Amino acid sequence: MKISKLKLINFRNYETLNLEFDDGLNIIYGENGSGKSNLVEAIYLLALTKSFRLINDKLLIKKDCDLTTVEGKVVKKNDSSKFKVSITTDGKKVEIDNNKINKISEYVTKMQIIIFYPRDTELINSAPAERRRVLNIEISQIFKEYMILLSNYNKILKQRNAYLKQLYLYGNASREYLDILTRKLVEYGKRINKYRQEFINNINLKITDIYKKIFELGDLKIVYKSNFNKTEKELLDIYRKYYSKEMAVGKTLIGVHHDDFEFTLDGNKLKEWGSQGQMKNAILSFKIAEVELINEILKEYPILILDDLFSELDAKKILNILNLLDNQVQTFITTTELKSIPKEMLQKSKIFAITNGIAKEEKYE
Ligand SMILES: Nc1ncnc2c1ncn2[C@@H]1O[C@H](COP(=O)(O)OP(=O)(O)O)[C@@H](O)[C@H]1O
Ligand SMILES: [Mg+2]
Repeated sequence: MKISKLKLINFRNYETLNLEFDDGLNIIYGENGSGKSNLVEAIYLLALTKSFRLINDKLLIKKDCDLTTVEGKVVKKNDSSKFKVSITTDGKKVEIDNNKINKISEYVTKMQIIIFYPRDTELINSAPAERRRVLNIEISQIFKEYMILLSNYNKILKQRNAYLKQLYLYGNASREYLDILTRKLVEYGKRINKYRQEFINNINLKITDIYKKIFELGDLKIVYKSNFNKTEKELLDIYRKYYSKEMAVGKTLIGVHHDDFEFTLDGNKLKEWGSQGQMKNAILSFKIAEVELINEILKEYPILILDDLFSELDAKKILNILNLLDNQVQTFITTTELKSIPKEMLQKSKIFAITNGIAKEEKYE
């Protein structure tokens, strides 16, 4: 899929912006603080209704304004539609072709996006919750059911924790009710576990090759770590063993809310012995594998955003990436200077120069 038009009103440092993008490569360049990341953030928001920068939505509204809208025309193989996200100080609204969408799971499965930005390289060393967050976002944009399962699981988890706390405080234990909650938790958890396991298996079918083609030798793999890789019966038995422990602390000690994954290179944990460079390459390979996987499942490539990649990677490797994707993926690359970009890339790109929230299309000569 491609985003052919983007319209911003009062978004970050843009007052109004109307752009038409290239189907292939779009290069966005400008000085630090000019608004490059803001621009790709708007495209990301349009697909996933949130920023990748983990901030409060209200910060997306231009200073001293009370409403921002991001609108885009998204063209797929068989249709095109208008996506729109509006954010006010009271909340957020999302629309497709002027119809308000109430279910986020419905909206985020309509437009897929993969982003790589410098902070991503921290993923390997960050806390498990951060990796789970990334995993959840990626699977949610592919499968409608997944986000619903997550929300159901979290609801039961909350109820179960509250009940455990009550048992702990007042000791009036009804194991029957705890059993009911546990069964529900196991049911939803098993289904979440299956989605995650399959996603990671599928990524593993691609990532080793990608890593070798772009970077260097070595077998890169992702290992899914979950205490739910068991049958329902086994899980229920484990929970029963844990009941008294859980009551003592007043919370659920096992479940997919503790899942994690790790990268290994030739069987060794990257987290423990990988270099910064290897970690970055691993994450990039992960993202490219996702691009291919989304196309395989949905028969439609996602949009790819590479924010500030030239500060992270040399031009030759970036060319490798683009060639690997066979130039079929609409790609947005931000950079502070055009100098480091190879001529062959510039020639086939649309180039946008950004200065203080104003974008101008530039011809390459
Ligand atoms: N809500 C906002 N209103 C106005 N300006 C904003 C807002 N949020 C961020 N900015 C401005 O956007 C600029 C940063 O833009 P960004 O796209 O991150 O820069 P870069 O080009 O380096 O990627 C900063 O100058 C910041 O002051
Ligand atoms: Mg930036």
